[in-house]
Amino acid sequence: MSTITLRRPDDWHVHLRDGALLRAVAPFTARAFARAIVMPNLATPVTTVAAAAAYRSRILAALPRDLAFTPLMTAYLTDASDPEEIARGYRDGIFAAVKLYPAHATTNSAQGVTDIARTYPVLERMMALGMPLLVHGEVTDPAVDVFDREAVFVERVLAPLMRRLPQLKIVLEHITTKEAVDFVLGAGPTLGATITAHHLVINRNALFAGGLRPHLYCLPVAKREAHRLALRRAATSGNAKFFLGTDTAPHLVRDKEHDCGCAGIFSAPAALEIYAQVFDEEQALDRLEAFASLNGPRFYDLPANEERVSLMRQAWQVPLDVPTEAGALRPFLAGEEVGWRLAG
Ligand code: NCD
Ligand code: ZN
Repeated sequence: MSTITLRRPDDWHVHLRDGALLRAVAPFTARAFARAIVMPNLATPVTTVAAAAAYRSRILAALPRDLAFTPLMTAYLTDASDPEEIARGYRDGIFAAVKLYPAHATTNSAQGVTDIARTYPVLERMMALGMPLLVHGEVTDPAVDVFDREAVFVERVLAPLMRRLPQLKIVLEHITTKEAVDFVLGAGPTLGATITAHHLVINRNALFAGGLRPHLYCLPVAKREAHRLALRRAATSGNAKFFLGTDTAPHLVRDKEHDCGCAGIFSAPAALEIYAQVFDEEQALDRLEAFASLNGPRFYDLPANEERVSLMRQAWQVPLDVPTEAGALRPFLAGEEVGWRLAG
């Protein structure tokens, strides 16, 4: 097979940032994806309907008019989130979902949730509405090893939450472990999971290959090879619980190459192509459409896109840098060859 055609995919987890970065990165997502779930962890988190509507307008203004792209906005959950505000945003079609960051788990999460019990009134309201909760699944307990924080979250936080609110729709975002895969497989249809392109490609050795590799540092951090293989099996299985979410998370090169480098991998310039390469390597190209274009909309109760895109088996080189008005960004696999190319 040298060309594959699929319904235009969606990206169920992106960081589009704001200002100069937004203008530089949004076109990369919009070239490949019809819709994207936009993360709310701006420097000032998106907690209100008004802030999400204004952010959505800035995203649309950052894109060329001929690119049809729908940003699906999310509300940043805090200890103080108001169930009324969240419900109003969902009813008015501004909020597609709510994002839970445990406080201090990742970039711009300082205002995240300190104790999930404080958010039960919001979560109960969401459950009644059928509104999905998107979860950054890592505990922040400093006593827990960084590489165990996802597995411990699943056991200590997610499983009890699902027992308490069994009908709440939850997406466990950017899963990185076999434990998370197994938990999702064993759960009912209210639980789905996104898988990034980079966690299908690298394991934790890549962070230290020949020296420290800040551009491969993200959260949750890449795990051992056995986990990467479990993720590849899950993504390419065709199981409807797993769908595409790149977690493309750009930071300026100077903020990555720093005493305290930011977490986040900027994969948007080649994300869809990298997924295609992974599915090809796994002899599962016939399942790429389910993962990229069908399973996500089904979970979110949205129609699949009617438009088609084609990918050709043709090697190209990922750019070394992507310029922005604020400085350069370094894409995932910068300077390396990817074996599939998006047509058009
Ligand atoms: C994300 C970011 O930079 O906003 N970073 C990351 O490493 N994935 C936040 C997140 O999704 O954890
Ligand atoms: Zn993210």
